Amino acid sequence: MTEPGYVAVARAADIAPGEVAVVEADGKSLCLGHCDDGSWGAIDNVCTHDGGILGEGELDECAVECPRHGARFDLQTGKVLALPAVYPVNAYPVRIVDGRVEVKVDVPTRELEIGG
Ligand code: FES
Repeated sequence: MTEPGYVAVARAADIAPGEVAVVEADGKSLCLGHCDDGSWGAIDNVCTHDGGILGEGELDECAVECPRHGARFDLQTGKVLALPAVYPVNAYPVRIVDGRVEVKVDVPTRELEIGG
């Protein structure tokens, strides 16, 4: 039974370590990733620099690189790790239950500030 607040978004077996994917949870588009160390993370799917789709980028350890201009975000905190983005993205808790990837989407978030 899924605990309130957590939404099943994928099968863990479908996303190998080192990969990111675009998933939907409660109407939000998210970048879900499986880090090389086996941990998981989920952040907003839209880059704060100029709207790049982060779930279509590359994952390097636990950093997502935007496919448009190469900004990097921490997959588990949403913090900016490399320019040209300046503003962070929202991050969401992730857990694995019975082979399902579940993301907690009812956490406080803020509107993304695009263009920093
Ligand atoms: S849109 Fe992501 S780095 Fe420019």
